[in-house]
Amino acid sequence: MTILGIETSCDETALALIETHGSGTTLECRVIQSLVHSQAELHSAYGGVFPTLAKREHGKNLAPLLEKTLKDLPLRGTITDQQFKDVIGSFKVELERANPDLWESLSHAEFLKNIPAIDRIAVTEGPGLEPALWVGINFARILGALWGIPIIPVNHMEGHVIGSLLESDTANGAWQKLKKLPLPAIALLISGGHTELVKISDSPSSLLALPDPTGSHTPYSYAILGQTKDDAVGEAFDKAARLLGLPYPGGPHIARLAHEAYIEKIPAPIKLPRPMIKSGDLNFSFSGLKTAVLYAVRDEMAKNGEKLSDAFKKGLAYEFENAVADVLDSKLRSAIEKSSARSVIIGGGVAANHILRARFEKTAGEYGIPIFMPSRHISGDNALMIALVAALDEKLPAGGRELRANGTKRLG
Ligand code: KG4
Ligand code: ZN
Repeated sequence: MTILGIETSCDETALALIETHGSGTTLECRVIQSLVHSQAELHSAYGGVFPTLAKREHGKNLAPLLEKTLKDLPLRGTITDQQFKDVIGSFKVELERANPDLWESLSHAEFLKNIPAIDRIAVTEGPGLEPALWVGINFARILGALWGIPIIPVNHMEGHVIGSLLESDTANGAWQKLKKLPLPAIALLISGGHTELVKISDSPSSLLALPDPTGSHTPYSYAILGQTKDDAVGEAFDKAARLLGLPYPGGPHIARLAHEAYIEKIPAPIKLPRPMIKSGDLNFSFSGLKTAVLYAVRDEMAKNGEKLSDAFKKGLAYEFENAVADVLDSKLRSAIEKSSARSVIIGGGVAANHILRARFEKTAGEYGIPIFMPSRHISGDNALMIALVAALDEKLPAGGRELRANGTKRLG
């Protein structure tokens, strides 16, 4: 089966193509293509993702990115000029109003008259920014209608979970098996929008081979054990970075400064709090940490002629990263113990962080259980993980379920 994945939940426009054999836990796949067009630089001027801009950029980028993605894929046939006009025309009124940029690029996309050898289209339906999600969904609807291909809606967070089970994310055409996930597993999902601890178990619907009423038929079921009460961890990295005068997205910049502090043995200028570390539950809170960074920066500016020295920035970045690592690691340990977990998954953009990865690896080692983390390439948003979730699905959705963006869609 060949699957096209579409991801537009935030500020990455991403498309991927995979080929698969089998399904569920015995799935084998090969990555044919995986392209990510990041808008981060554009959003950087706003200090965070600006939804209207994200929507416009997705609308402009999707068609050219699709042409590149499909470049070497065999064709299943062609549609006539008239068929193209009829199908595209049936979306005109809706799209011209809702997604003028997408309409503009699709209405002239001659390459869409070639029907690629694709069996399914997988698209992120949520969670994420709704205006951005809608662009991907509308794009999928049009492709589905033009080519007569079914569409599978995918939960973005499940994508971050399953993406961690890939052996290799390179589009080299090599076949691979997904890594086997001993259950129950604990997933720690850490991104710009989410901080969640999730328990993964066998899906009852997959055991009974019954369709799942939520529309998903992957072999796993999910229960959220804890989540952030305010800022997500990636958001905290981004806000702390902004206070230190670093560009968006701030996570990689904080990580770089923290690493320099470590190499240069620069001490932390202050001790930051470890919010909710002793709360006894599995929830998180990161807004207090950001406020503590704000006060530290303000005090230092007042003392230092309204300037921040490089040593201060590095030392504070290091302490910030350690505070985050302490909190995440402590909650991860509790979740492993409470659930008698047999494996751990780390997913989401913040999983690119070296210090956090090393900490989680050590923890899993201490509990004697395997840990699965995405390669650093696909820890951020991508469509490969979205296509993979659709590949796990043994059956097509029951049908009749309306495709809608769901900004607050939850796992489980
Ligand atoms: O999963 P993702 O790409 O997008 C969302 O779904 O949110 O995550 C993006 C987040 C941003 O907040 C970014 O600053 C953070 O991941 N991030 C990092 C690192 N690389 C990206 N945070 C800490 N250390 C990193 N190396
Ligand atoms: Zn994400």
